[in-house]
Amino acid sequence: MATDWLVTGAGGQLGSVLLRLLARRGAAAVGTVTDKGPRPDVGESIPIDLTDRRALEPLVRRLRPQFIIHTAAITNVNDAYRHPDRARLVNCETSCLINELAAELGARLVFTSTDLVFGGGEAPYRETDPTSPKSIYGATKVEAENALGDSPNAIILRLPLMYGVPAVDRPTTFMNQVRAMLDRRELTLFGDEYRTPIWLEDAARACVDVAQRDISGILHAGGPQRLSRLQMGELTAKALGVSDARIRSISQCEIDAPEPRPADVSLESSRFESLMRRPPGIPMHEALMDIAEELNVAS
Ligand SMILES: NC(=O)c1ccc[n+]([C@@H]2O[C@H](COP(=O)([O-])OP(=O)(O)OC[C@H]3O[C@@H](n4cnc5c(N)ncnc54)[C@H](OP(=O)(O)O)[C@@H]3O)[C@@H](O)[C@H]2O)c1
Repeated sequence: MATDWLVTGAGGQLGSVLLRLLARRGAAAVGTVTDKGPRPDVGESIPIDLTDRRALEPLVRRLRPQFIIHTAAITNVNDAYRHPDRARLVNCETSCLINELAAELGARLVFTSTDLVFGGGEAPYRETDPTSPKSIYGATKVEAENALGDSPNAIILRLPLMYGVPAVDRPTTFMNQVRAMLDRRELTLFGDEYRTPIWLEDAARACVDVAQRDISGILHAGGPQRLSRLQMGELTAKALGVSDARIRSISQCEIDAPEPRPADVSLESSRFESLMRRPPGIPMHEALMDIAEELNVAS
């Protein structure tokens, strides 16, 4: 069975939204999920451990996709810290193998990378700025980026912090915060940690659109606003109509973390805008109107 699109990590927040977007567009798409993880309720998904080379190679050769969007990864910074070998295997080595398979088939590959390839001291970051990851997670992504860098069939799409409703039943930071707000539970959010967040739907559109363009190298797909985690929470509470949300501002220095948290990894995304003739995403307060409607809690 052949397909046009292969989405790895379709049980994840971005992969599930991607599979739903492709289904809505009537595209022939297949996603990969894991045995233990959730399955999206739209589209077709195949369970596989992508680190199993003997399973991955025949699957990709059988599917013969024209486009591969590779979102599967160890994305939790603490998990990557605790299991660095596993993180390197999944985030780097597996991505390299997928790139080799894409090249063999003449498929276009979108490798989803992260703003955490940067250290946080010199934002906003452009594609040409030197990487300086502060975490094992960020370092494994840099390693993969460097390995993929010269592939003419691959585009490295660096994504910022994502928010929105996944198309799969999966706990995410954003959805946990939404539930806490609706339950009037206290939330502590960093007032001094800045990101350029993007809506999941916009991130998925960016992946699909760049896949279809003959571009390679690195591309930033940051959202249009630089916001602190606290500001993101306040915007979310407002959109949900929770005027008495219990949000407490904290500073990064109040938290004991095994690895330093970058203060500001805002992405500068003008290359995306000039190539695609549109910004990667819409402002958060606009996206939140759709999100509140989807959650049926519009203010
Ligand atoms: N989340 C963010 O805010 C953010 C920010 C910047 C960049 N990114 C990047 O965007 C991409 C998607 O992120 P996300 O938040 O959607 O991630 P996610 O929700 O954590 O999903 C990742 C998916 O990868 C799967 N996976 C992990 N190891 C695997 C393996 N060995 N074989 C097969 N599947 C495996 C996971 O399986 P399980 O279902 O079993 O867990 C999960 O479904 C990643 O490349 C991430 O680095 C994310």
